[in-house]
Amino acid sequence: MQAAQTYPSHNVEHIPYHVAIIMDGNGRWANIRKLNRTEGHQKGAKAIPSIVKAFGKRGVKMLTLFGFSTENWGRPKSEIDAIFGLAKDFIDEHLEELHQADVKLNHLGSTEKLPYWLKKRVQHAVQKTSNNSAMTLNIAFNYGGRADIISAIKQLIEEEIATNEITERSISNRLATAGLPDPDLLIRTGGENRLSNFLVWEATYTEYYFTETLWPDFGPSDIEKAITEYGKRQRRFGLVAD
Ligand code: IPE
Ligand code: IPE
Ligand code: MG
Repeated sequence: MQAAQTYPSHNVEHIPYHVAIIMDGNGRWANIRKLNRTEGHQKGAKAIPSIVKAFGKRGVKMLTLFGFSTENWGRPKSEIDAIFGLAKDFIDEHLEELHQADVKLNHLGSTEKLPYWLKKRVQHAVQKTSNNSAMTLNIAFNYGGRADIISAIKQLIEEEIATNEITERSISNRLATAGLPDPDLLIRTGGENRLSNFLVWEATYTEYYFTETLWPDFGPSDIEKAITEYGKRQRRFGLVAD
């Protein structure tokens, strides 16, 4: 008997395995409403669980969300503190439900400069969900693509790896994303068409999808549009098309 097809309009090859998202536009969402930027971040954080669920239902197996970049340290301390507080609340409020849904959480980036109470929670969340397998949720927080490459180079030097053993694989294996497949689709909300130091190594052959929708407004119809657009792309990886 043929297995039931949940999503008849899409062939599974047209569903990205790994989707990465630059969740941008929280500040502008708040400005438009005469709210403060923190309220935009609150609304943005609230949107995350339903988005994770929606991608999961759509057959996406891995989601990587950019929550705080190494450059975001240049923002006012009050805004940084608010973002860290929201990250803590996110873990406190949603860890159990994500665990029940068999979601594996990974952290990309350094926990070194994060407040102790956040670092502890991140480590606990990663450890608790380490054997889950239905879906993987990578949170890039205090993450920068260039910082990650520098860290990989330092590891190679410390391990005294021979020059002829420096390969794409030996570098990939020392990045925060070691062992993870490269993103198939990268979505950026908020209308900017740039990478902002996200996954600079990993997103070389990723399909990009930019939308004007501000992150707090991103919802099911945006997900459908992005997946539909992905389905129309022809990925060639430098080869000649069939
Ligand atoms: C993205 O929203 C969230 C973070 C960078 C932490 P922004 O805060 O960058 O929102 P805009 O771009 O100012 O609207
Ligand atoms: C990228 O957004 C970082 C995150 C979404 C976490 P930014 O708002 O920091 O990027 P720029 O400054 O517009 O490039
Ligand atoms: Mg922004």
